[in-house]
Amino acid sequence: MPRKALIAANWKMFKMPTEAKAFVEAFLPLVAGHDRDEIALFPSPVLLPGVIEALKGSNVAVGAQNIHFAEEGAYTGETSALQLKAVGGTHTLIGHSERRQYFGETDEIVNKKLHTALKHGIVPVVCVGEVLEEREAGKTADVLKTQLAGAFAGITTEAAAPVVIAYEPVWAIGTGKTATPEMAAEAHAMIRAEVGTLLGAEIAANMRILYGGSVKPENATALIGQEEIDGALVGGASLKADSFAAIVKY
Ligand code: 13P
Repeated sequence: MPRKALIAANWKMFKMPTEAKAFVEAFLPLVAGHDRDEIALFPSPVLLPGVIEALKGSNVAVGAQNIHFAEEGAYTGETSALQLKAVGGTHTLIGHSERRQYFGETDEIVNKKLHTALKHGIVPVVCVGEVLEEREAGKTADVLKTQLAGAFAGITTEAAAPVVIAYEPVWAIGTGKTATPEMAAEAHAMIRAEVGTLLGAEIAANMRILYGGSVKPENATALIGQEEIDGALVGGASLKADSFAAIVKY
């Protein structure tokens, strides 16, 4: 079975409710009937109910950019997996580099969140990737291995089946610098090999690995066209309906 690509929009902390609604109205006709790839939007928590309602019955899934690892509790400002599920969210990003960089998310926290998402049937998109100094020091493989081993600690092969990984080299996020398709494919192959070591060859062969970092309509085909690249996690270019639809239809 070939891996079905997932094309995902990470809206980060952008869009007012009216803008989110306008996006959905413009976007849905552009991707109507598109079933070659899975499509998912990751808006801010306050936008989730409105976006989910507007997309009801469509071919577009909705997820959160983050969940807490606890099911409930005194964690001011956080959103739980159960709350996400209750409003109809089906996916979540975990360990995005901006969460790691600005909110102190460690591999241990990523691991706890991954356990929680899987326990509640939420599709986790686990983000990994090296910063520029690590790449320049030739440490990319080591960084990816550490992040993956941390993320998957205590997770069984059976439980890990729904997991999606997003390779996002931090130096390519929001910078306009994209990894070349060959560089991305090389990192994806390393990730797949490491997942194989951690969880077995079969699950590694089936796991989707997305690329993220300055994906645009102009480079989407070359990137997603790589055998090793199973979709994209798109930031800036996902904010406009026509540009994100063009990426979906790479
Ligand atoms: P850009 O597409 O804006 O580089 O962002 C990538 C990203 O962080 C997606 O999660």
